[in-house]
Amino acid sequence: MSFKFDEVGIWSELKLEIVEKYGSAYTSAFAKQKGLTKLYVDAFSGAGVHVSKRSGGPIDGSPARALRTRPPFDGFFFIDMDEQKTAHLRKLCANHNNVHIETGDASKYLTQTLLPTIKYEYFKRALCLFDPYGLHLEWKAMEMAGQSRAIDMFLNFPVMDMNRNAIWRNPTAVPKDGIDRMNRFWGDESWREAAYAEDLQGNLFGSPGIIKQSNDAIVQAFRERLRKVAGFQFVPEPLPMKNKTNAIVYYLFFASQKPVAQKIIDAIFKKYR
Ligand SMILES: C[S@@+](CC[C@H](N)C(=O)[O-])C[C@H]1O[C@@H](n2cnc3c(N)ncnc32)[C@H](O)[C@@H]1O
Repeated sequence: MSFKFDEVGIWSELKLEIVEKYGSAYTSAFAKQKGLTKLYVDAFSGAGVHVSKRSGGPIDGSPARALRTRPPFDGFFFIDMDEQKTAHLRKLCANHNNVHIETGDASKYLTQTLLPTIKYEYFKRALCLFDPYGLHLEWKAMEMAGQSRAIDMFLNFPVMDMNRNAIWRNPTAVPKDGIDRMNRFWGDESWREAAYAEDLQGNLFGSPGIIKQSNDAIVQAFRERLRKVAGFQFVPEPLPMKNKTNAIVYYLFFASQKPVAQKIIDAIFKKYR
């Protein structure tokens, strides 16, 4: 079977620009700090190259951009479940001896193998990009990233997948698979408190007595969760990433332990809001 590159929309191109800009600010900030290992972790890395829907031409993916970041990272971890994508990535990385490429489930590799090795006290620091298409990441990975106190994280918060498959106006009609995926992403069932409220007026359409809340209510509850449960100190207002029809496809979250990181990302996000 021949391999087809992913076609990416404008929202993906903007994400790539943002992560690339932050990447060079990140490694520059460490330039004078000796003795720290700076890693780049791309947990849903893709093939390293995509096709732009806008131009029809090739466009570098997040791993290719991380590899050219200057000052450079000291090591790279790329994870993707699709073996054709990781095979392509291996070709792209042939000249780099500090790259580990993993074919498999990102949450499993992150929680069982990689994240236990990245901790503040081990003098390791990492910029992580968690960029699933939908609800494919487990909360435990995000929580371990926060608790490491060593990680700056970009996260694709897949609000479109949530609304399609897990959070409906009639919650009793949601298939079990959607609920299970939402629970895995959120870490427990507490997302329901943000997603639904009691309807004191009576409601004609959805489930009687229940009103589905806005995206913003869910986003703010998750922001709070990244701070209070995962332990990230700084979680700025995430950036809504929209498609051509102005619908929000996902929110780009950023989370860090450092005030300086928040300052840099605020300046970058401001340009794209
Ligand atoms: C949005 S794309 C990544 C794009 C890439 N970060 C970029 O910006 O260039 C998501 C990728 O996740 C991969 N994927 C889907 N489920 C996965 C899983 N459970 N574990 C690892 N990778 C997965 C897909 O094969 C796809 O390449």
